[in-house]
Amino acid sequence: MTQAADLLDPAERLDLDGLRALQRERLRDSLRHAYENVPFYRKSFDEAGVHPDDCRSLSDLSRFPFTTKADLRANYPYGMFAVPQERIRRLHASSGTTGRPTVVGYTENDLSMWADMVARSLRAAGGRPGDIAHIAYGYGLFTGGLGAHYGAERLGCTVIPASGGMTSRQVTLIQDLNPSVIMVTPSYMLTLLDEFERQGVDPRSTSLRVGVFGAEPWTQDMRREIEERFAIDAVDIYGLSEVIGPGVAQECVETKDGLHIWEDHFFPEVVDPITGEVLPEGEQGELVFTSLTKEAMPIVRYRTRDLTRLLPGTARVFRRMEKVTGRSDDMVILRGVNLFPTQIEEIVLRTPGVAPHFQLRLTTSGRMDALTVRAEARPDADAATREAAARSIVQAVKDGIGVSVEAEIVDPESLERSVGKIRRIVDLRERRD
Ligand code: DLL
Repeated sequence: MTQAADLLDPAERLDLDGLRALQRERLRDSLRHAYENVPFYRKSFDEAGVHPDDCRSLSDLSRFPFTTKADLRANYPYGMFAVPQERIRRLHASSGTTGRPTVVGYTENDLSMWADMVARSLRAAGGRPGDIAHIAYGYGLFTGGLGAHYGAERLGCTVIPASGGMTSRQVTLIQDLNPSVIMVTPSYMLTLLDEFERQGVDPRSTSLRVGVFGAEPWTQDMRREIEERFAIDAVDIYGLSEVIGPGVAQECVETKDGLHIWEDHFFPEVVDPITGEVLPEGEQGELVFTSLTKEAMPIVRYRTRDLTRLLPGTARVFRRMEKVTGRSDDMVILRGVNLFPTQIEEIVLRTPGVAPHFQLRLTTSGRMDALTVRAEARPDADAATREAAARSIVQAVKDGIGVSVEAEIVDPESLERSVGKIRRIVDLRERRD
């Protein structure tokens, strides 16, 4: 099933040549805007010996320098802004789990473009004007809540601005107000699942039809679990504050085959995380974005640290990115083997008797690092099932990832629940310095 063409906006109807021409034109303008108005970019382009006029084709972009999180921190709070403060309508901040947060700003036009991109995302997810959308991403400095909110309004939905938390009330709202769309982190959706069950309400019986899940990595196995338990379609939405917020890329409900990047506004590259070399389509590496239309805070070759690969378009002309495997900073190196929480998620979700709640605990054992997968038992799992589950997880990690770990099956509801972005890794290692 492909969406009827009249549901698409004009850029979604471009052919590939039209899209590339639009990108070329916008890219040059955006580089010029950054160079002329942000001293940081002027300096970094000059140092690299490049000028916006050197960007004649899209591949010329690779000659321009990268921008990193450290650059944004060094220019905290307003140093990356390209317009006077009076033109800034809103500020948001990135989650900033380590060090200073990053402040991002939006002009009136930026907010409008962002709402358009979230509306486009929601429509690709299967949302339609007239739908009731329950938004349980956190409202506030985090871009999730307000980003989803204005996009859903732009599409013509009725919005329930629930925000995160107060889990039992969320269940009441969903039952009473009959939303057809929910926008929330996948881990908080699981917290809601528990609450439905605690209240004795069948989660498959709600009015929900579509879930638009993002802000953290989640796997195909998690999709199956959520779709099955709630009887909904579950699709992936991606974004980051530095680029705009949610709505940078979105999976289409009719194909569920990766996320179409809205590359008429956000130009993607995938680079080798070590050498910075641009990788060909299909190869896994670090995702890098250049904004094509942003006014307040243009961003040039921003290193996201998210690992994925680019793929050709399917349901849309825009290229797709594969579901994000993880962030380079979430990668655990265990005795020389690289491991991502998403790999463990796949294993845990395939293990009988285990609920989709898990945590990775890193400790020091002698001179070595050790990892324990702590997963929750399903309520009906007896002692023998739990023991078998622990053995099966250890074996699957050994066979699939090639490293020895321990597994502990803990009691139902004993692991901390997410109300937003989940923290999978608990690092209890002794510092060696
Ligand atoms: O998480 C924006 C967002 C809100 C996206 C709601 C989707 C839904 P930040 O707080 O700046 O912004 O965090 C951005 O979160 O670099 C990824 O590491 C991760 N992330 C976001 N979406 C996904 C996703 C928002 N669908 C960082 N899959 C990004 C995997 C994701 N990781």
